[in-house]
Amino acid sequence: MRILPSFLSVWCIVVLLTSCNQMKEYQEVSEETSDIHSLAQPKRAKMTHLALDLKVDFDRKQLVGTATIYFDNETGANQLILDTKDLDIQQVLLDDSTKANYSLGEEVALLGRPLRIQVAPNTKKVTIAYTSSPKSAALQWLTPAQTAGGEQPFLFSQSQCILARTWIPCQDGPGMRFTYQARVEVPPHLMALMSAENPTEKNETGIYEFEMKQPIPAYLLALAVGDLAFQKIDERTGVYAEPATLEAAVQEYEEVVKMVEVAENLYGKHAWERYDILVLPPSFPFGGMENPRLTFATPTIIAGDKSLMSLVAHELAHSWSGNLVTNQTWNDFWLNEGFTVYFERRIVEALYGRDFAEMEALLGYQDLLETIEQKGKNNKDTKLLLDLRKRDPDEAVSDIAYEKGYFFLRLIEESIGREKFDRFLRKYFETFAFESMNTQRFINYLEKEIIKDDEVLAKKINYKDWIYGTGLPQNCPKVTSKRFTQVDAQLQLWKETQSTDSLNTADWSTQEWLHFIRQLPVQMDIEQMKQLDEAYEFTASGNTEIQAAWYVHAIEHQYEAAYEAIENFLINIGRRKFLTPLYSALVKTEEGRTLAKDIYAKARPNYHYVAVNTLDEIVGYQSAK
Ligand code: BES
Ligand code: ZN
Repeated sequence: MRILPSFLSVWCIVVLLTSCNQMKEYQEVSEETSDIHSLAQPKRAKMTHLALDLKVDFDRKQLVGTATIYFDNETGANQLILDTKDLDIQQVLLDDSTKANYSLGEEVALLGRPLRIQVAPNTKKVTIAYTSSPKSAALQWLTPAQTAGGEQPFLFSQSQCILARTWIPCQDGPGMRFTYQARVEVPPHLMALMSAENPTEKNETGIYEFEMKQPIPAYLLALAVGDLAFQKIDERTGVYAEPATLEAAVQEYEEVVKMVEVAENLYGKHAWERYDILVLPPSFPFGGMENPRLTFATPTIIAGDKSLMSLVAHELAHSWSGNLVTNQTWNDFWLNEGFTVYFERRIVEALYGRDFAEMEALLGYQDLLETIEQKGKNNKDTKLLLDLRKRDPDEAVSDIAYEKGYFFLRLIEESIGREKFDRFLRKYFETFAFESMNTQRFINYLEKEIIKDDEVLAKKINYKDWIYGTGLPQNCPKVTSKRFTQVDAQLQLWKETQSTDSLNTADWSTQEWLHFIRQLPVQMDIEQMKQLDEAYEFTASGNTEIQAAWYVHAIEHQYEAAYEAIENFLINIGRRKFLTPLYSALVKTEEGRTLAKDIYAKARPNYHYVAVNTLDEIVGYQSAK
């Protein structure tokens, strides 16, 4: 009887010590890794809250106002250092409104200039009066003609990865978090929205107030201003869009209600109170951006048939993977995107069935193989853990983070069973909520929770190969899709009969059509292209995924009947994922290059900086500087 309590207490101490050690280990790792893409030094004095007071000046294309930065100065540092890029700083005040001494450091390529503010050990906040530049890389200022309504201008921001500093002085690294509030003044008739608690109606003063109570990293700061209206879907979801687009958007997105439920059932409560979607004008450079409480989305997913809803599942999933547990540096980007693609496909599977999710996984696998082929299987950018030193973190955006990340997690799932894996993920989001995660910390957690001392399992997963190795590891899970096999059979039939008459394509989904188009033969003559187009109306499709895939073939086969449509597409749509392959296909031939340059000259003013940043090089565009 006496042995038991003492045994228990020893055991307790051992358990406590091990878990303490483990915590310490995570902690140390997280503190060690500093962010190579930020000039701020939060370990000395750390920003904790931001209060913005901004006026949106459409004529000058500038934000004008103040940013008050509250910070913790546990080390008693005499400086607070913030990231800025292309900001004009007019004045800095300390708590008591005395003027602070400050300096803007030399411009560092890609990163901007550090703003160093002299503070006293007991200074609590600084207020910075500043103006953003009309060429702020995060902001796109649209003329009325570039909107759906055509009458009011529009502004939106895109802060990921390191562009928050081009519109707000802040500590701009994904490993640091702060809460924020804002007061934003806009011209009458416009509404302002942020990644925060939002208005649902316009007001006459043009002054809007915002609050984000949960701490977020700077890349999730977001602002949009335009002729916007709101419609609720249920109590915690809704859509913002220009009035002309609102109804179609609401219809397209109504399943978001079920998505939030399904997601919560999988991995725990949604931490952000609301999940609304803002439909932007077509120049938005991404499919979606997971700004907390308010996903920013391209209008190109309004396909009319809900066929592109997995994009919403993706951005919603980021409410956990990314926004709640955040990649600590951009080298760890796969922790954001790989987890999100995995989560996205689980939501899609729960709502639309395994067959459907497997089609998307297979399309993802095709993308992954193509990316590895393009980059080369020994290329170090095909590792999950990236090395982005001296590089723009935007270069991290490739199918490696998304799809290699996805398949790695799927491998773990398949190795230990879904139930166990789901428990692991649930605990992961709970344990690390509102913290940042880096690859080493994830490995420690994986070792502790899953691998333990199981050598067989360790070998089966072989995480080192995935994380530090290039190319596609041999143990990559295999995906099969019966529906795609049927598509392959129809394609074969077409090749044999050279006619579309006997093909059975009834009830094909967008995903099946995409597979069909992707698998079309490399060699096709104009007659064949024409035959397919007449039968299936790809050129005139209203679905941008189908258009983009088909137009690549059209370019490669000089199918001129599609050129006008391609030009319209390139001029009107700013989504980088579509633009990159199309321009890349065009520049492969002499004539194509001329055409690309022509179109690009007209289209470029419609694109956001992040698209231009990628495309200038592909098209060989020399900007007049
Ligand atoms: N967070 C990304 C977009 C992003 C990544 C912006 C890196 C800037 C730098 C977003 O969640 C995303 O992945 N969007 C995809 C959606 C798709 C995978 C469903 C897109 O825009 O295509
Ligand atoms: Zn994403």
